[in-house]
Amino acid sequence: MKIDDLEFEPLIEEETIAKRINLLAVELNADYAGKTPIFIGVLNGSFLFVADLVKHITIPCEVTFTKLASYYGGTTSSRKIREDIDLSTDISGRHIVIIEDIVDTGNTLAYLIEKLKLKNPASISVCAMLVKPGKLETSVEELRYVGFEIENEFVVGYGLDYKELGRNLRDIYRLTSTTDEV
Ligand code: IMP
Repeated sequence: MKIDDLEFEPLIEEETIAKRINLLAVELNADYAGKTPIFIGVLNGSFLFVADLVKHITIPCEVTFTKLASYYGGTTSSRKIREDIDLSTDISGRHIVIIEDIVDTGNTLAYLIEKLKLKNPASISVCAMLVKPGKLETSVEELRYVGFEIENEFVVGYGLDYKELGRNLRDIYRLTSTTDEV
């Protein structure tokens, strides 16, 4: 499938994503029972993941979003983090679960966690749909819930974009051509 100038091929199907999300929710329901967690989705990429995940959360919870991005429309991380939306929710004394679409270098996540820690939450953990273990530059001990570990490849679909395109795709696709840039 062509998205703008690049060719992509299927990697993870919608049904597989749905099954994994169900299991993640089972874990979260058990781990956060009696804690009324706040799920904080990181926009834009996590919007579908948050929506699908919280539908399976059966314990009382809050859902909110923040927006931070280190990608500027290409296929490699720019290493600069742009903060578009701050978080107005009061998280002091609360149990926080950050919902991320994908963890690549881990820099975005490390930055967000440090920022949230300043607001004195009771705890912070991270639930990421995808993780590229081979690209992690920062070890993130809060990364406790992971949908799928993938290779060092650029992916789109299910909320993830290439040049803002492809977020609406139901499946996850990977870049077909091999490139050193990924
Ligand atoms: P990190 O700071 O390098 O971990 O980058 C994390 C952010 O980069 C994610 O939240 C995504 O928005 C974006 N990103 C990382 N890898 C990919 C990818 O393969 N496809 C699309 N976006 C990606």
